[in-house]
Amino acid sequence: MARFRASGCVLCFALLFALALPLAFAEGTRMPMKEDSAAEFGSSTRWAVLVAGSSGYDNYRHQADVCHAYQLLRKGGLKDENIVVLMYDDLANNSLNPRPGVIINNPKGEDVYAGVPKDYTGKDVTAKNLYAVILGDKSAIEGGSGKVVDSKPNDRIFIFYSDHGGPGVLGMPNVPFVYAKDFMDILKKKHESNGYKEMVIYVESCESGSLFDGLIPNNLDIYVTTASNSEESSWATYCPGMDPLPPPEYDTCIGDLYSVSWMEDSENSNLRNETVKEQYKRVSYFYGCVIHQHCVVQVKGRTLNLKDRDSGSHVMEYGTTTISNEKLYLYQGFHPFNSNASKNSLQSSFITPKGVTQRDADLLFMWKMYERLDNRSKKKETLKDITETLNHRLHLDNSIDFIGTLMFGEVKGPSILAAVKPSDVPLVDDWNCLKVMVRVFESHCGSLTQYGMKHMRAFANICNNGISKKAMEDACISACGGYNSEKWSPLSHGYSA
Ligand SMILES: *[C@@H]1O[C@H](CO)[C@@H](O)[C@H](O)[C@H]1NC(C)=O
Ligand SMILES: *[C@@H]1O[C@H](CO)[C@@H](O)[C@H](O)[C@H]1NC(C)=O
Ligand SMILES: *[C@@H]1O[C@H](CO)[C@@H](O)[C@H](O)[C@H]1NC(C)=O
Ligand SMILES: *[C@@H]1O[C@H](CO)[C@@H](O)[C@H](O)[C@H]1NC(C)=O
Repeated sequence: MARFRASGCVLCFALLFALALPLAFAEGTRMPMKEDSAAEFGSSTRWAVLVAGSSGYDNYRHQADVCHAYQLLRKGGLKDENIVVLMYDDLANNSLNPRPGVIINNPKGEDVYAGVPKDYTGKDVTAKNLYAVILGDKSAIEGGSGKVVDSKPNDRIFIFYSDHGGPGVLGMPNVPFVYAKDFMDILKKKHESNGYKEMVIYVESCESGSLFDGLIPNNLDIYVTTASNSEESSWATYCPGMDPLPPPEYDTCIGDLYSVSWMEDSENSNLRNETVKEQYKRVSYFYGCVIHQHCVVQVKGRTLNLKDRDSGSHVMEYGTTTISNEKLYLYQGFHPFNSNASKNSLQSSFITPKGVTQRDADLLFMWKMYERLDNRSKKKETLKDITETLNHRLHLDNSIDFIGTLMFGEVKGPSILAAVKPSDVPLVDDWNCLKVMVRVFESHCGSLTQYGMKHMRAFANICNNGISKKAMEDACISACGGYNSEKWSPLSHGYSA
């Protein structure tokens, strides 16, 4: 085990501190803009569902993204009664929060928390409530404000989700996860009920493309962009040790790269003139700049087409792509404050953040805390937490490798577990099987945690290869029989929970 611990730390610290790159900006031109009336909007209402799927101060950024999105939509003219917010709400008063009662999503540090509706917080942030909110099904809601998307056939809906994820799943601060198949079934049901005209969904999470790959038909009148494709991490930003830094008293990342990219673009653009597609292209462009350093050679606004799998993430689009020709204000509203912003202003105003992957952001947080503490016994506890977290990660990685070897042999195991389906085919044939395999694994090997969601593809491939529940149980017992997973029970979400 010592060998693993050592290599884990080397890997972790390399990851934490190896991310650095500069970027130069072109000066954007400012163009005056005539304001049109909102009359054409007719009797259509704009709705929004904002979801932060995590909890804990080390995940600060997801709730900060969601609060920021709320402020943007409110400034754009959406009404509180039409914006449903699901967030754990454990940050404002968190003992680690250096600015009590305040949440920020940008190094400049304006508060984005004031006024955010407490629709679903704490234990009420669940997949079940999210589905009921989207469907407008008040009777299925448990707890919370009871606010749902009570939309009419002519309405537009915007959904923004920021969290950890893994192949085929999005996190939730309370188990279970949001599974791609269930989420898609909800969207289909909403469509069948004639509950909207068009919908735009933005998702920030690792492997977020896998929520839609091969699952979303193009006739649902839903357009989606995701922070990453189905095989890669997404990235946190405004992190300690990076440029630009969060304010010095913050030990945690305060934003996510895709999320702040679209929001900072919206804040600096004329949303009555910019299309959804243009935003997608610009977010891809900036994302690509920051992560891949390709912006220098990239034609402005071009979607990146990078083949190198290990070098970052690719913003993706799915669904009814014709919707992307519509103007952004139809979803995000419009405020005179940005009416003069030119199409290219993002380039001059966007501060280039550097990123850290979603999965390493919690480690970075713990490490920064460790560095800052001067109480020796607290320092020791924090180091213990870091070590345990790294060890649990190694335990998860090793157990899954081992299970693969038991099932498919040492030679074929790894490639079978890692097999990626074509992009028009869902991750797994039998979604119920996937859930069962996760449950069996967690009951023997401990919680997957946010980090372990990256192994969802392995579980999917176990199902796709027809492995029975019994065989999975046997393999898990062999792999994890003696593991003391008390701290990592399936009901805990790891360190932050
Ligand atoms: C509106 O968008 C179009 C298409 O991108 C662009 O050509 C035009 O200059 C924009 N107008 C303003 C005032 O920004
Ligand atoms: C935070 O503390 C304030 C003041 O005690 C209280 O009014 C507020 O409800 C608390 N918020 C949360 C989310 O607990
Ligand atoms: C936008 O430009 C117009 C005309 O140049 C000007 O009158 C107006 O004050 C500007 N609005 C903002 C918010 O800067
Ligand atoms: C250090 O932290 C421990 C708890 O972890 C606490 O009991 C102790 O009083 C602290 N010491 C100082 C000097 O603050």
